[in-house]
Amino acid sequence: MVTINVCVGSACHLKGSYKVIRELQKLIESYKVTDKVELKGAFCLGNCTEGVSVKIDDKIYSVNESNVESFFKEQVLGRIQQ
Ligand code: FES
Repeated sequence: MVTINVCVGSACHLKGSYKVIRELQKLIESYKVTDKVELKGAFCLGNCTEGVSVKIDDKIYSVNESNVESFFKEQVLGRIQQ
C-alpha cells in the first residue's frame, strides 16, 4: 500500500492542493490501483515555498498540475511495482 499525503495547509491550498488531489484520484482510478493507493490530506509539511507538497514515506515532493502525472507514474506506480 502506498500512502500519498497531500498538504492542504493554507500555502499549498492556494497553490492548488485540491486540483492535485483531484488529478491523483483520476490517475488512481484510471490505472486501477484503488486498492493499492491511499490518498490522504495532510497539514502543513513545512515545505510551503515549494508547494503543493506531497509526502510519500518520508520524502516530500513538489507537485503541481503540470507534473502530477509524471510524479504519479514515477513515485506511485514505481513503488507499487517494486
Ligand atoms: S502549507 Fe503545505 S507545506 Fe506548508
